[in-house]
Amino acid sequence: MTIRVREGRESDIEGIAKAHVQGWRESYKDFLSPEALAGLSVEERMRMWQRALAEPEPRARLLVAETDDGEIVGFIRGGPIRNKEARLLGTEAEIYAIYLLDRIKRQGIGRRLMHGVFDHLTHQGFRSVGLWVLKDNLGARRFYEALGGTAGPEQSFDLRGQIVTEVAYRFELAAKG
Ligand SMILES: CC(C)(COP(=O)(O)OP(=O)(O)OC[C@H]1O[C@@H](n2cnc3c(N)ncnc32)[C@H](O)[C@@H]1OP(=O)(O)O)[C@@H](O)C(=O)NCCC(=O)NCCS
Repeated sequence: MTIRVREGRESDIEGIAKAHVQGWRESYKDFLSPEALAGLSVEERMRMWQRALAEPEPRARLLVAETDDGEIVGFIRGGPIRNKEARLLGTEAEIYAIYLLDRIKRQGIGRRLMHGVFDHLTHQGFRSVGLWVLKDNLGARRFYEALGGTAGPEQSFDLRGQIVTEVAYRFELAAKG
């Protein structure tokens, strides 16, 4: 199976929302409660993505990973820091989300997606980028460390009735791995 990485567009919203829900269910089954995972909805995610893409933001980049037959099996979006919580990262830019389905993990696609966004952010003049990851999500943390990220502050919050802890990762764009 060949996986193509390309720019995402508004017509991809349904495919991205499906991958988002499936990605959570596959990747977070060991960290989040069955109730929290069962409560996820493609329609809700579609509305979230519609809102996110409604206002053009040229400094942000959305990339999708697509199979030969057009199924979206992964995506990433990153851009300028958005809100107060994100500002805790202490970086100018952030990765808003990155998800891959289980069947395409560990083939270098996550790295391609991250570098695609890093390159764009570097061209936009950003010098640092951060993200939040679940503290228990050791696979993703090893991935960020392999790409040169360093762990920083932690924050806990209520995610659909479950208290979870996230840890921040920071990347210096000039020295990306
Ligand atoms: C985290 C994620 C994006 C990584 O993408 P990927 O395509 O699987 O990773 P890559 O193949 O590009 O890996 C690059 C390097 O990162 C490290 N790495 C990646 N996944 C790892 C894992 N599960 N455990 C340990 N190291 C890992 C390795 O050093 C790897 O190089 P190698 O395969 O040559 O050893 C992907 O697994 C994913 O989408 N996970 C579920 C969703 C998620 O947790 N998202 C993060 C939300 S904050």
